[in-house]
Amino acid sequence: MAKRKIIAALAAMAIGFTVLAGCSTERPVGTPTTDPTEAAGGGLIGITMPTKSLERWNNDGAELDRLLKEAGYQTQLDYADNKPEEQVKQLENQINSGAKVLVIASIESKALLPTLQKAADAGIKILAYDRLLMDTPNVDYYATFDNEKVGTLQGTFLEEQLGLKEGKGPFSLEPFAGSPDDNNASLFFKGAWDILNPYVESGKLVVKSGKAPKTLADWTSIGILAWKTETAQSEMENRLNSFYGDSKVDAVLSPNDSLALGIAQALESKGYKVGSDWPLLTGQDADVANVKNILAGKQSMTVWKDTRELAKQAAKMVDQIIKGQTVDTNNNTYKNNNKTVPTYLLDPQTVVQDQVQTVLVDSGFISADKLK
Ligand code: BGC
Repeated sequence: MAKRKIIAALAAMAIGFTVLAGCSTERPVGTPTTDPTEAAGGGLIGITMPTKSLERWNNDGAELDRLLKEAGYQTQLDYADNKPEEQVKQLENQINSGAKVLVIASIESKALLPTLQKAADAGIKILAYDRLLMDTPNVDYYATFDNEKVGTLQGTFLEEQLGLKEGKGPFSLEPFAGSPDDNNASLFFKGAWDILNPYVESGKLVVKSGKAPKTLADWTSIGILAWKTETAQSEMENRLNSFYGDSKVDAVLSPNDSLALGIAQALESKGYKVGSDWPLLTGQDADVANVKNILAGKQSMTVWKDTRELAKQAAKMVDQIIKGQTVDTNNNTYKNNNKTVPTYLLDPQTVVQDQVQTVLVDSGFISADKLK
């Protein structure tokens, strides 16, 4: 199924991009052109990604850059080191260089508002990549994975593994959430908490640290700023030191792999052993270090989002925007507090230990030698 989807997407890209084959990608940024192929496409596309420190954004950026270049566009690919003010500078630079479309995976979308206005005033189209740009009319399209489903997959995994539906328990659970400035983090949490909270309320799941948000809106109280591994590690160590004594934690809800890495380190440092008392631990992204942890029994699952598919979809949407074609969307439920943003949603998927080879390696997402 996944293979068929990849082949279909590749074929679609090939058709879409053949007409652009042969366009120069060497023209200096911002230089006016009389290249007749420009009418069919071409021009500068700005790509801004949050940080190089997380594996997925490196993959996303490189793949999108490659696909757009292959399709005859010039690109400017920038990483902002998780600093909102740096991202503003990069976007201003892309606008001044004459970008026709900005593809933005934002850090803190609030910080971008005046810059987005400037881009819109200059007639530049804006595609929100993976993370929605909030509180602005100046976002034209959004390409992402079904973010709430990511959380649903994590919550359902814990529910099934613990046998909660069958009435088992009580078990101890420690929940974590992502960066408070990332809209995705609220959706991941909602998806998971809708499944888990009824068990917290019935006492089948016990959050010994007390760090169970009272309401969904309160999720930021357990958010880990900038999705930092070290912060998640120290938070988990504090919870284990302060609330567990001789008892053991049974399950940890981690919204993504960078947090899961820190949580696993904290468990290790507190003497937890794989196979005897290691708790269930969720994740997201299928980062290499985490897939290694899954193979070693230190992480129970990850939610895989094939970032190659997202890059393909985004490149296709950019191409359609430039050519004035109907832009491919499949969802109209994403609201950014200002408007409903036409969205293309891709499907995330749970991966557990015995699927690492068949799903992640066989699809070429991770090469086998990286897992050695
Ligand atoms: C992305 C996740 C990622 C997280 C940290 C989120 O917006 O959707 O895939 O793990 O940011 O970078």
